[in-house]
Amino acid sequence: MNAAIRAVVRSGLYCGFDLYGIERGFAGLTGETEFRRMEIGSVAGIIHRGGTILRTARAPEFIDPAVQDRAASLLIGEGIESVVVIGGDGSLRGARELESRGIKTAGIPATIDNDIPGTDNAIGFDTAVNTVLDVLNRLRDTAASHERIFVVEVMGRESGFIALAAGMAGGAEVILVPEKPFDLEEVCRRLQRGIARKKTHSIILVAEGAAGAVQIKEEVQNRTGLETRVSILGHMQRGGAPTAADRLIGSRMGAAAVELLLQGNSGVLTGIRGNSICPVSLEEENISGRPFPDDLYEMALILAR
Ligand code: F6P
Repeated sequence: MNAAIRAVVRSGLYCGFDLYGIERGFAGLTGETEFRRMEIGSVAGIIHRGGTILRTARAPEFIDPAVQDRAASLLIGEGIESVVVIGGDGSLRGARELESRGIKTAGIPATIDNDIPGTDNAIGFDTAVNTVLDVLNRLRDTAASHERIFVVEVMGRESGFIALAAGMAGGAEVILVPEKPFDLEEVCRRLQRGIARKKTHSIILVAEGAAGAVQIKEEVQNRTGLETRVSILGHMQRGGAPTAADRLIGSRMGAAAVELLLQGNSGVLTGIRGNSICPVSLEEENISGRPFPDDLYEMALILAR
């Protein structure tokens, strides 16, 4: 997200805007509001840092229309005409509410879950997938040495995009995602077929929305008798130096958001499709429920046999 903030500030200044950063996201618009004047040097030395220099917070209170009204009035009162919102589906829904109250908004998709329709990629996803991949590589070393099964739980809320991408790239033997019902008996048969082929170890990658890793571990160990261990990766997936791919889309999306606002094209999300930025309207159906790539999942199953 820092790459996106940097790009908004630097291209915004280049285009003649005055820029302010809002601390703590929507929470910063509903409580003690702090606008931070952003100059060219305010975003120096941040492109390599994870997280956001503006800090962030969950702001469930922003669902309330009265709170949204107050936030819009506050922005108008401060003379702020346009807002760039960087975040996941909740943040983008907030952006849509501001737009409907007369604030010109541009949304930048940023969530490790990568579950926003209308864009192939959201900022943070590639970094999270690479972090998981790094852990899978490490776990394989110990799994192979000890001849064990590892059940690795990754984030994603109700979606399985992290599990699918990291599982495919890391060669996980089993990938469990919320979008696809699974049968534990079949999972165990798959593991046992591997053992019969002299496979020494296996990795089951489970998305948090599909099942709990501990429960899967107990079931697998009881049903197969194979020595099984659990690793729950948690918030380590949300930090660390962003990958080059994330820095690039963050920079491109930040600059695109400014460009769109300059053209008077607001109420849009800076989606990316293929390798092009494609503005997408911030309508409800474009914010939540990205279709799961069934074909890729089927391919992952074939490749992991
Ligand atoms: O939406 C991003 C995400 O990291 C999900 O993958 C995860 O379920 C959730 O946020 C965790 O939220 P929190 O940090 O508020 O516990």
